[in-house]
Amino acid sequence: MSNVHVIDHPLVQHKLSLMRNKEASTNSFRRLLNELAMLMTYEVTRDVPMQEVEVQTPMETTRTKVIDGKKLVFVSILRAGTGILDGMLSVVPGARVGHIGLYRDPKTLTAVEYYFKMPQGMSERDVVVVDPMLATGNSAIAAVERLKELKPKSIKFVCLLTCPEGVAAMQRAHPDVPIYTAAIDRELNDHGYILPGLGDAGDRMFGTK
Ligand code: URA
Repeated sequence: MSNVHVIDHPLVQHKLSLMRNKEASTNSFRRLLNELAMLMTYEVTRDVPMQEVEVQTPMETTRTKVIDGKKLVFVSILRAGTGILDGMLSVVPGARVGHIGLYRDPKTLTAVEYYFKMPQGMSERDVVVVDPMLATGNSAIAAVERLKELKPKSIKFVCLLTCPEGVAAMQRAHPDVPIYTAAIDRELNDHGYILPGLGDAGDRMFGTK
């Protein structure tokens, strides 16, 4: 599991616990997801390249470092990725954004692509793929496979929750892609849901059930 980063900061764990509660309203679920995504971005961007710039302080001119946010692409797997994306963009507002539309075939649980839109110049960019739940891994694997065709400089995967089955599938298919998550739960059930989990992340953030 060397390529799996579990972000166990107390603030992250606290907010995740609140999100698991089935009584949490759509409003608070969405707000917590947003806050969690901001906190997780802190770890995910720990090694992003920086560049030196000259800054005039009120006292003198100095050289200092900034992130070249435009080199980052946050790729949201629709539709649930949107919730994480918003939080990440609030701390890295210069990042570019890509979208991949994938839905889970309810019978086979395999990923079916219906939308794919990325910024230009992907070979110059570092990609962070986001989806709150890494369950069977089918969507994440398909999304990363598709992105690798564009040969980005690097790819990371960020989710809120995963399970041993999801991590194993992802690592089998893409051992080179680090996974960032707030927790690895006990197991996947026969319907492809994570246990104990937090239910259907998309439905809970959009209030569609
Ligand atoms: N997608 C979800 O929203 N929840 C799960 O538990 C698994 C996949």
